[in-house]
Amino acid sequence: MIWVEAVSYEDLAVNTGRTIRYQGEEVALFKMKSGKLTAIQNRCPHKAGVLAEGIVCDEHVFCPMHDRRIHLSTGLVQAPDTGCVQTYSTKVHDGTVFIGFPVGKELAC
Ligand code: FES
Repeated sequence: MIWVEAVSYEDLAVNTGRTIRYQGEEVALFKMKSGKLTAIQNRCPHKAGVLAEGIVCDEHVFCPMHDRRIHLSTGLVQAPDTGCVQTYSTKVHDGTVFIGFPVGKELAC
């Protein structure tokens, strides 16, 4: 895994997605109400809606295009719809958020 510097933790608004790009990958980074960070693939598996622009409610983000609901920690699309998005590890060091990008493996979704 490669840790990539993304943004200042303090600069992230609660429940508002931020798009992070790294070598062709696009990640939606969220700071939840609890302060926990989650990072998921930024494109909805349905028709590539931009998930960083979705509405966050509790542990889920609603895709802005057709309202599918995706769990922010597992990346699973919630029933009655199906599918999933890649999830990414996050960490904070000295006030800076880092996202862990997998190396040398296929994406899980
Ligand atoms: S593109 Fe996300 S629900 Fe259709």
